Amino acid sequence: MLIPKADKSKRLQIGFTKTCDCPPKNISCVTAKDWLRGMVTIKEFYYEGRDIRDKDVHPAVFPISLPAHFIKLLTHKGALVLDPFMGIGSTLVAAQDLERNAVGFDLQQKYADVALTRLSQSRFGEKTSQLAIVDDAHNIADYLDEETVALSITSPPYPHFLTRKRENKSMRGDLRKNGHYHKIQQYSNDPRDLGLMDHDSYEKTLTEIYRGILPLMKKRGHCIINVNDLWEENKRYPTHIYVIEALAKAGFEFRNTFIWDKRNLVNQVGIFGWPNNFISLGTTMEYILDFWRPD
Ligand SMILES: C[S@@+](CC[C@H](N)C(=O)[O-])C[C@H]1O[C@@H](n2cnc3c(N)ncnc32)[C@H](O)[C@@H]1O
Repeated sequence: MLIPKADKSKRLQIGFTKTCDCPPKNISCVTAKDWLRGMVTIKEFYYEGRDIRDKDVHPAVFPISLPAHFIKLLTHKGALVLDPFMGIGSTLVAAQDLERNAVGFDLQQKYADVALTRLSQSRFGEKTSQLAIVDDAHNIADYLDEETVALSITSPPYPHFLTRKRENKSMRGDLRKNGHYHKIQQYSNDPRDLGLMDHDSYEKTLTEIYRGILPLMKKRGHCIINVNDLWEENKRYPTHIYVIEALAKAGFEFRNTFIWDKRNLVNQVGIFGWPNNFISLGTTMEYILDFWRPD
């Protein structure tokens, strides 16, 4: 496959070298105790006051604590973190808190604007930079030098998921008919938006994007993808498998699976399918897939 040449005129001046005193051979600055905690593969995360959960601002935001957990575990202070689908910049906020440099990409100016406002509200981060770029994730190689990214972490769009009317099926009774009921909350109508693609184009496009990201990663640099499987018209779509296939084709090696245990965030769930169509409750867990760039 033809990989387009990077446009070097867009190169960013951003730090990527560690600024801490811990041994360079260590993956990160964490203590043995935190490392041990990080090895537990089922994990709860909590939303905090700075997280924005208003679906009119952005329909699919992960908590700052999620990228923060992996940034701590997998990078040193001063390292460079990439979020190819940054949304409103939760990864950038986590990186700022933890004194890591970071670059995020999104197709939508409105999301980058929210990310910049969130970054401007923080007390931390003078020693590092966090940049929100409005561009297609296909073009990331135009902005970054090879072997500079220590960690890529994201929650990508899901194929076709937000193009349907929101049914709130996981909510009970009256709660279901909230202000978002039957609204369509897709990110955009931009044909480059992965959220508009069918499953085959989605996997192909994800492969292209991550093939472009691979050379930017440091060797053994980790790449985390938070994703969930989907139901559509009573059919199961194993999105996490499309992601694993796409990343393998792009040259990444699959390392670990974590489960985001979301039971602390789901209350008053509704029953659907009962008593004749058994459908598991996708809202209670999500996958967090971990890959790396092999040596
Ligand atoms: C699930 S959201 C990420 C949310 C983010 N984790 C947060 O907490 O704000 C995925 C984002 O990918 C963006 N997106 C879709 N296709 C894209 C593309 N080709 N290049 C860059 N961004 C894209 C969408 O606009 C959307 O904001």
